[in-house]
This record gives sequence, structure tokens and C-alpha cells, in this order.
Amino acid sequence: MTVLKVYVTFVLVYALDCSADDAKLKYKSAVKPVRLFTDEELSKYNGHQEGLPIYMAVKGVVFDVTKGKEFYGKGAPYNALVGKDSTRAVAKMSLDPEDLTHDTTGLTEEQLESLESVFSGTYKTKYPIVGYTARRILNPDGSPNEDFQPDDQPQFSTRDEF
Ligand code: HEM
Repeated sequence: MTVLKVYVTFVLVYALDCSADDAKLKYKSAVKPVRLFTDEELSKYNGHQEGLPIYMAVKGVVFDVTKGKEFYGKGAPYNALVGKDSTRAVAKMSLDPEDLTHDTTGLTEEQLESLESVFSGTYKTKYPIVGYTARRILNPDGSPNEDFQPDDQPQFSTRDEF
């Protein structure tokens, strides 16, 4: 009797579990999911690991810059910019270690304009977006930033991984 009870309970739980999975598979989000990079995750893609792509963030947008290996690969002139968010360095056209950061505090109007122009004219035009930094997607308390909008990049057909 007890064995039968246990079996019935198991079948019920299993059936419930499967229907939950089905519901998950049928659900298709209207919003395209995006990949979130923590600083640690992004640092893996610094051009030093054979076989991994090279990623770099500007304004919290993570670009795959692998095809610019001659600029960004191991030993290349701009390798210091990759595996991190280098917004400040790009704005100032500086490779100074203290400028290798997302922080834009105190940048001049001219530097901010230069940043916009390199962001749109070089990065967004030339390199596919692969995700966004946690700083860009989340609020400081870790909650989702409701104002987040993925950047448009119509010239690339991005893979739908989900
Ligand atoms: C003596 C100093 C420098 C010279 C002669 C120089 C020269 C160049 C050249 C020739 C290009 C390639 C343009 C092209 O073929 O599309 C380039 C691109 C670039 N440079 Fe410099 N550069 C200098 C300093 C810097 C510094 C300090 C930075 C710091 C951020 C920087 C950031 C970049 C970036 C982000 C690109 C675009 C690379 C890409 O297309 O992915 N450059 N530079």
C-alpha cells in the first residue's frame, strides 16, 4: 500500500515537472535576451587565451573585436583596452592604466564628443555586439535597470542563442 502511494506521488510530481518544462519551452519572450558580463567574465576575453574571442566594452556595450586582432590581440598596440570596459581610455585616446575604466567622471565636452564618434563610427559600425556589462544592465543594488535598451546594430544578423 505504502509503496503504491510513493509511486503515485512520484508519477504526479514527475508529470507536474514535465508540464512546467513544456510551459517554459512554449514561452517566447517579446524582449530579446541579452548576455550580461561581469568584470570577471569580461576579463577572460583579453586576447591572451588561445581559441577564445577578444571582447572589449565601450559605454557598457560589449563588442567582439576578434577581427581587429592586429590592434587588440596579445602583444598588439591596443591590447590593454580589451577584456574590460575602456570607455575613458577611448574618450581620451589614452592607454594610461588609470584611464582603463568605465568611469567618465570629469571628461571634457570634447572628450565626450570624441567618445561618441569612436563608439558609433568605429565600434558599432565595425564590431558585433555580444552583450552588455552588468553595470549597464543592472542598478547599483543589483535590480534590473528598467531603462535599459539594447543598442541597434542592423548591419549584423546576431545569433539568437535562446
Ligand atoms: C602615436 C600614437 C598613435 C598612432 C600613430 C595611432 C595610429 C592609429 C592607426 C594607424 C589606426 C588605424 C586606423 C585604421 O586603419 O582604421 C588607429 C586606430 C585606433 N587607435 Fe590609434 N594611434 C595612436 C594612439 C592611440 C591611443 C593612445 C589610443 C588609445 C585608446 C588609440 C586608439 C585607437 C583605436 C580605438 C583605434 C581603432 C581601432 C579599430 O579600428 O578597432 N590610438 N590608430
